[in-house]
Amino acid sequence: MIGVFDSGIGGLTVVRSLMEHLPGYDIVYFGDTARTPYGTKSPETVVGYALENIDFLLNKGSAIIVMACNTASSVVAESAVDQFDVPIFEVITPAVELTVKHSKHLRIGVIGTRATVNSGIYEKKIKALSPGAKVYSTACPLLVPLVEEGWVKKPETTMIIKKYLHPLKVRQVDTLILGCTHYPLLKDKIQRKIGKKVDVVDSSTAVAKKVKAFLDTHAEVDKQLVKKGVFRLFVSDVTDQFEKTARMTLKRNVELEHVKT
Ligand code: DGL
Repeated sequence: MIGVFDSGIGGLTVVRSLMEHLPGYDIVYFGDTARTPYGTKSPETVVGYALENIDFLLNKGSAIIVMACNTASSVVAESAVDQFDVPIFEVITPAVELTVKHSKHLRIGVIGTRATVNSGIYEKKIKALSPGAKVYSTACPLLVPLVEEGWVKKPETTMIIKKYLHPLKVRQVDTLILGCTHYPLLKDKIQRKIGKKVDVVDSSTAVAKKVKAFLDTHAEVDKQLVKKGVFRLFVSDVTDQFEKTARMTLKRNVELEHVKT
């Protein structure tokens, strides 16, 4: 199985992209809905949650893991991931690589949770590939709870997005990275508010392409993955809202399985 986790619903945008790029691969997902959001918590707490989530997914038979959470990806060190003997993907590097390749003027905006923005990881990774790039980051702490609440179409959400994006518009960014896996669910609104000339990079698509490219060249891992189209969806807290948003995101019926954290 491909194991995927996030603090809540956002990682399902990565599952959606994985289903598109790797149709038929069995996937097991864990949404840590009892402990969401991660973005307002300390790095130590998030690292602890992430390592527990990886263990859980390994116990469910995952042969590769995708941390479908920018917040976890920004604080979990490579050395911590190396202790596991399966490939573990994070969502930040693929989005950065795509951005640096395509941005015309290298004026890059990043939006994410407070923890992701405070980690400075996007700026560090972008500058490592392109030292002259200008990077402007804004934390958008209200967006995760709005998505978890299912408020993706509300006018209040549009107003909040407009306010968050204003400083990046002023800086005339040419590319905007959605540095949180919840944000693709708000992509249309974000694109409208930042302007149609700005390229909006969605880390969920970038990581799905990266996983596919990896499996295309690592047959020994690919053959461990079952391709029967099974999808299991575990959450640490079962709510009607999660089920509704999950169904809307994946455009299929879902059955939530409860797991205690
Ligand atoms: N979807 C997550 C991310 O990409 C987590 C957001 C949160 O729990 O605050 O950062």
